[in-house]
Amino acid sequence: MSSLETTELALPAAEQHCISPGCGATYRLNERLYVCARCGGLLDIRLPARIRDADVIKDVWEKRLASSNPKDRSGVWRYRELLPFPDNVPIVSLDEGNTPLYDASRSARYAGLNSLQLKHQGCNPTGSFKDTGMTTAITQARNLGVRLVVCASTGNTSASLAAYAARANLSCAILVPQGQVSHAKLAQSLDYGAIVFEVAGNFDDSMRLIRELAQDESIYLVNSINPFRIEGQKTVAAEMLQQLGWEVPDHVVVPGGNLGNSSALGKGFWELRELGLINRLPQLSVVQAAGAAPFAHLFTDHESQLLGEDAPAEFHDVDHPETLASAIKIGAPISWQKAWRALRWTKGRALAVSEQQIADAKAMIGRDGIGCEPASATTLAGIKVMVGAGVIQPEERVIAVLTGHLLKDTEYVIDYHSGRLALPDNSGTNKRQIKGAFANSPISVKATRQAIIEKLAYLTQTNRDNQHTT
Ligand code: F0G
Repeated sequence: MSSLETTELALPAAEQHCISPGCGATYRLNERLYVCARCGGLLDIRLPARIRDADVIKDVWEKRLASSNPKDRSGVWRYRELLPFPDNVPIVSLDEGNTPLYDASRSARYAGLNSLQLKHQGCNPTGSFKDTGMTTAITQARNLGVRLVVCASTGNTSASLAAYAARANLSCAILVPQGQVSHAKLAQSLDYGAIVFEVAGNFDDSMRLIRELAQDESIYLVNSINPFRIEGQKTVAAEMLQQLGWEVPDHVVVPGGNLGNSSALGKGFWELRELGLINRLPQLSVVQAAGAAPFAHLFTDHESQLLGEDAPAEFHDVDHPETLASAIKIGAPISWQKAWRALRWTKGRALAVSEQQIADAKAMIGRDGIGCEPASATTLAGIKVMVGAGVIQPEERVIAVLTGHLLKDTEYVIDYHSGRLALPDNSGTNKRQIKGAFANSPISVKATRQAIIEKLAYLTQTNRDNQHTT
């Protein structure tokens, strides 16, 4: 046993557990199901504690940062004591995780905070947070001996799945809503060799279809309804806390689409506290785009119910979700009950922000030299709203989780900065123009030194004047 290994190497007796109140059915880890066979509820993985001493494990995880073992290099498998796999499992990894936690002073000022940190999950190998869950889901797919892995996606899950399936030598098919996925994301899936089906419908249609297809035994579904995805994604809570020296922030804010990420972070923080690695939970808040905000509506309608044990009995889907943040253009999120539980555990909130608020927040994150894709910027927009409403205090410690990389959706960026960004209404005929409050459009110039010097002199003077007046 290497000095970096913990002392408990026995195969963990973990199980899959139905989260529906009054059900609680359990299943072995190698049973291939996505929802409870008895009641249709969502499944959680329950892992008996493998960590006895919080200080010892923190030390082990710290030492692994300097190790060259592939399992230690991965920012997911480094925290393998939190995962439902035996230590000797062969992993499918692209060195995921290990994402930076940046200070963002302009964004902080914009939101009305003294400081703000951005956990940039867009710095994962395929450019989004999905990789942290895909490494565990595809490792499980190989454990189960499946041949074909599938997902429905707004573009990032599919890019991630395509990459990990290629690494694992598995066949892979994805369903994406036709014409609603950015070129960059589509390009990734094509290049990694996935079979790409463009569905004549939206994401929710694709999700419904893929669940029907996954009833076939030969097909393994790796959307976040698959609890092995959630297990990988929850480790970002441990990585974030380690980066913070185990000092718990006051607020962690994430975008909400299908609600796997918020479910995973909630579970991650909860388990860290159960294991004694932290002594309180950050408030986890979920921000959605106003045109695709069923979870924010649920929160507004049922906030008082957060104090009770049960999730609201009914969830109202949004039939025609609309947002330019295409990653979160989702009206029927599958994991809403787990996300509700995360809000209950952490005393968090859910809210919606407008297209204009998302676009400007995104440009502001760009001005910090960081950048992200539109869905990720809902976080800063939401934080600004919560600071304005007195829900977050200026001196509190706040982390926004950026879920995707700036280069994931360059069409949006160019349109914003050129003043062309507009949201079509549901009929597709009228358009609502987004004003580029921080627009930075390219400048045409004659191909002479003099022309550039003159423009530069003018622009630097204008910039200086602007700085004096703002
Ligand atoms: N941010 C980005 C960049 C995403 O791609 C997604 C989801 C989310 C936020 C929302 O996370 O679904 O866990 O609440 N993208 C999925 C996909 C739906 O197919 O790529 P969530």
